[in-house]
Amino acid sequence: MIKHETIEKNIGLMILLIIIVISGGGLAEIVPLFFQSSTTKPIEGLRTYSALELEGRDIYIKEGCHVCHTQMIRPFRAETERYGHYSTANEHVWEHPFLWGSKRTGPDLARVGGRYSDAWQKAHLYNPRDVVPESKMPSYPWLFENKLSGKDTAAKMEALRKLGVPYTDEQISAARDEVQGKTEIDALVAYLQSLGKTHSVYTNKR
Ligand code: HEC
Repeated sequence: MIKHETIEKNIGLMILLIIIVISGGGLAEIVPLFFQSSTTKPIEGLRTYSALELEGRDIYIKEGCHVCHTQMIRPFRAETERYGHYSTANEHVWEHPFLWGSKRTGPDLARVGGRYSDAWQKAHLYNPRDVVPESKMPSYPWLFENKLSGKDTAAKMEALRKLGVPYTDEQISAARDEVQGKTEIDALVAYLQSLGKTHSVYTNKR
């Protein structure tokens, strides 16, 4: 029988045993999540992002919006009163990569879709201080000038389809026409307006 003293005096053995214990605990918590339908199956009625929304999502990532904004409402009263129903894993099964985020300089955006008009969103992104005087969010005036070609949109959708997002052949073949000639702001606002609106399960619940 190995004595505890032996472990305490042998740092290599101690490290090895600590790794075994911690990974055991981690595996017991993480592995079941890969097999639970509540975390692996899409929520009822979930739709995919349209071609334009998908491009908007990429602009959201490119501009680093996720560095200041989370998209995950935690299950606490203060959060659900302000942002709506807390986020659930099955809303995000088609998100690659997910944009939950970890730091909030600005508010959570998981259900911001429909909270403001398109005109407000545009004015706010052009210069946040025009509509929220105390805002310290950066301005994004170039989004109004940059046009999208849509030449990569179909390929992006195909890549997502390989990861399990159910894009149809029709959606993929129409993607370029939907995106071509639109500005980055059109795409970004379409994406923001879709947040929390890609299914209606929580619409009437808090
Ligand atoms: C440096 C941090 C920072 C970055 C980067 C940032 N924001 Fe913000 N955002 C804020 C802050 C702070 C607020 C709250 C004040 C305001 O409304 O302007 C805010 C507010 C918002 C709101 C209003 C949310 C609500 O519920 O009132 C939206 C929508 C928004 N941001 C979208 C974006 C988008 C899209 C981008 C990327 C193009 C972005 N933000 C980048 C800090 C940031």
